[in-house]
Amino acid sequence: MKDLFERIIEDKGPLGNWAKQAEGYFVFPKLEGPISNRMFFNGKKVLTWSINDYLGLASRPEVIKADADAAAEYGLAYPMGARMMSGHTDFHEQLERECAEFVNKESAYLVNFGYQGMVSAIDALVSKNDIIVYDVDTHACIIDGVRLHPGKRFVYKHNDVESMEKNLKRAERLAEKTGGGILLISEGVFGMRGEQGKLREIVALKEKYNFRLLVDDAHGFGTLGKTGAGTGEEQGVQDEIDVYFATFAKSMAGVGAFFAADKDIIQYLQYNMRSQMFAKSLPLAMVKGALKRLDMIRTMPELKDKLWIIVNALQSGLKNNGFDIGSTNTCVTPVYLKGEIPEAMAMVHDLRENHGVFCSIVVYPVIPKGLIILRLIPTATHTLEDVDETITAFSDIREKLENGTYKKIGAEMA
Ligand SMILES: Cc1ncc(COP(=O)(O)O)c(C=O)c1O
Repeated sequence: MKDLFERIIEDKGPLGNWAKQAEGYFVFPKLEGPISNRMFFNGKKVLTWSINDYLGLASRPEVIKADADAAAEYGLAYPMGARMMSGHTDFHEQLERECAEFVNKESAYLVNFGYQGMVSAIDALVSKNDIIVYDVDTHACIIDGVRLHPGKRFVYKHNDVESMEKNLKRAERLAEKTGGGILLISEGVFGMRGEQGKLREIVALKEKYNFRLLVDDAHGFGTLGKTGAGTGEEQGVQDEIDVYFATFAKSMAGVGAFFAADKDIIQYLQYNMRSQMFAKSLPLAMVKGALKRLDMIRTMPELKDKLWIIVNALQSGLKNNGFDIGSTNTCVTPVYLKGEIPEAMAMVHDLRENHGVFCSIVVYPVIPKGLIILRLIPTATHTLEDVDETITAFSDIREKLENGTYKKIGAEMA
C-alpha cells in the first residue's frame, strides 16, 4: 500500500507536471495594474488579450464606484447565511428580476459561481431515470455536473447535428424503458474555439424528439444578440432555450452567475440546487455591483459596438495575413499553430518579452498533441492600433516557429 501523498507528489497531474517550467509565467502569471488593454506583467507593460472583460466594464469609474459604495454600506459579509435560511434580500430579488427580463425569461435565480452553479443545476435537473445528451467540447462545469448524474449520459461530436440526432434517438429509446426524460446541454459559445453552439439546429430537433435544452452562455451573454442577451437572441431561438445560464465573470466583469427559465423551473432550482441551499448567499456588494453593470449593458449599446469593431478588425486582419482562426463566429479568437509544447513556450516567451503581447496559450492535454492555440479575447478597451501591433507581432513569431528558431530555444527551456 502507498501513502496517498506519495502518489500526489510523484505525479502532479498533466498540467502540474509542467509546474517547474511554467509556474509564474505560463500558468499563474500575475497581471497587474488596472484591468485594461495594457497591463503590467513582470514589471513590463504588455498589450493584454487574455481578460474576459469583453465590454470593458471592469475599470470603468462608475462600476468601481458602485462596488465601493455597496461595500462601504454593507461590507462584504452581508447577508449572512444561505439564501433559503437568512441570506435573502430585496436586491437579490431585484437582480433576478432584471436578469430574467434582460434575457427574456419568466424568472431567474442567482448562484455564487458559474462553475459550482452549473454542476449543481445539472445535479438538480436530472434524476436517475433521466438521460443527458451533451456536446463533447463543453466546459468543465458541464462535464463535472454530468459526472454527478446517476443515470445514463450520451455525448455527441462537437456541434455535429447528425451525431446529436443519433444520440437523441438512443436517449429516447432508453427513456421509453426508464420512464425518464432527456436533458440536452450545449454551450451558447464554445469558449476555446469561439464557435456558437448550433442552437437553431438543436431547437429544430425538438420537433422530432422530446427533450429540454440547457444552454451555458458564459461567452455569449453581453456580446451576442441585438440587445446583448446572448446566443439565443443572436440565433432567434431564445424562447426555445428551456434553461438559460450566464456567468457574471465575463461581460459583467464581476462574480456570480444566474439561471433563467419558466418560473416553475426556477422555483424548483431554488429548492433543490445544493450549491445554493448549502452555501452562503452572493454578497450584497456583488449583487449591487451587478445591478450597475447590467444597467450599463442595457443602456450603453456603444460598448458592444466598440467590442465588435475590434473583433472584426482583429479577425479579418489575422485572416488576411494567412492565420488560421478556425471557424469562430464570436469574439473569442483562437489562432491555430503547429508545434510541440517546448516550442510553444519559447514562442510565447518571445511574444511577451520582445513584442510585449500577452495572450493565453493552450496546448496538450487541453487540445491534441502538436497543436498550439494562442487565444485572444478582444474587448471594448482595445484599439485598432493594438490590433495592428498584434498582427505584426504574430507574423514575426509565426515565421520563427516555421523556420525552427523556437525548436532549439524550446529544447533548452524544457
Ligand atoms: C462556458 C463557461 N461556463 C462556466 C464558467 C464558470 O463561470 P464562473 O467563472 O462564474 O465560475 C466559465 C468560466 O468562467 C465558462 O467559460
